[in-house]
Amino acid sequence: MGLLDGKVAIVTGAGRGLGRGEALELAREGAGVVVGEVDEAAGQAVVDEIVAAGGTAVLAVGDCSDIGAAQAVVRIAVEQLGRLDALVNNAGILRDRTLAKMTPEEWDAVIKVHLRGHYAPTHAAVHHWREAGRPGHVVCTASTSGILGNFGQSNYGAAKAGIAAFAQIVAQENWKHGITVNAICPAARTRMTEGAYGEKLAGAGEEGFDFWHPDNVAPFVAFLCSDASSHISGKVFGVQGDTVELYRPFTSEAFLQKGGARWTAEELAGRVDELFAETGIEPAAQNGMARLRFSMTQRS
Ligand SMILES: NC(=O)c1ccc[n+]([C@@H]2O[C@H](COP(=O)([O-])OP(=O)(O)OC[C@H]3O[C@@H](n4cnc5c(N)ncnc54)[C@H](O)[C@@H]3O)[C@@H](O)[C@H]2O)c1
Repeated sequence: MGLLDGKVAIVTGAGRGLGRGEALELAREGAGVVVGEVDEAAGQAVVDEIVAAGGTAVLAVGDCSDIGAAQAVVRIAVEQLGRLDALVNNAGILRDRTLAKMTPEEWDAVIKVHLRGHYAPTHAAVHHWREAGRPGHVVCTASTSGILGNFGQSNYGAAKAGIAAFAQIVAQENWKHGITVNAICPAARTRMTEGAYGEKLAGAGEEGFDFWHPDNVAPFVAFLCSDASSHISGKVFGVQGDTVELYRPFTSEAFLQKGGARWTAEELAGRVDELFAETGIEPAAQNGMARLRFSMTQRS
């Protein structure tokens, strides 16, 4: 018995990296899987792997940020696998560059694949579930690069912080329809992060456990795709290695008030440092990634 027996799930960008691991895990837990990919050969290889292992999978070739392709992926789930229970928005790209050097094409490409690439399939899936009067689960893929803020990734970080907000808002809008929407901030060694997470970390944690292996992220995603997670929605989780973290959304830390009157800019200039005094937050720009609880540096 698997956690997802009889269910059907879509994974976008499932041809490699985290998406591949998620597709294989969903199939192991009993789900039929629609492998969404722009790269047909990579997607077909994952379909073949699932089928060879005795699972059910079909390929949906297309760009997840294309409205027609996103509608098609939902249609393929329903027409070829009989239903739709979960959507994992995973596909993503990087075009890292500091803002001063970033071209409009680099900005647009990242915003489109991530933000529109979350909007389009989620819109199609939510429509399907609401029209059918059925529950559903959406897993979005954000990143600590966005919610903490990483140097050199203003396009990617803006998209990923946007995805965390998207999950929280779409979750509220669809809670009464039995549709959950959560986001993960994964960390793993994939083509996207080549070099950042080194080789297999033999001996880290349990004997030979490879902390940064991409497949370590998949079981939590499978859980979020299952009805066992129906009470959880609009949340942002960190997932890496043997660890699952819960993030608190942006929260007000301190305030200044004038007592029922409008401030002048000059008054604020004289008082604004009081906001920082009790919080430990530096007024100067900082790399938010320093606040990561689990990073490669901390583990090596
Ligand atoms: N690897 C990490 O440590 C890490 C950290 C934070 C967030 N993420 C996020 O996790 C997700 C997966 O990343 P990964 O590391 O596995 O990357 P990856 O490059 O290994 O795999 C991404 C896959 O998505 C596919 N893809 C790209 N654009 C697509 C599109 N428009 N439509 C359909 N498929 C598309 C690619 O062909 C590729 O197979 C991304 O959203 C990424 O931003 C990864």
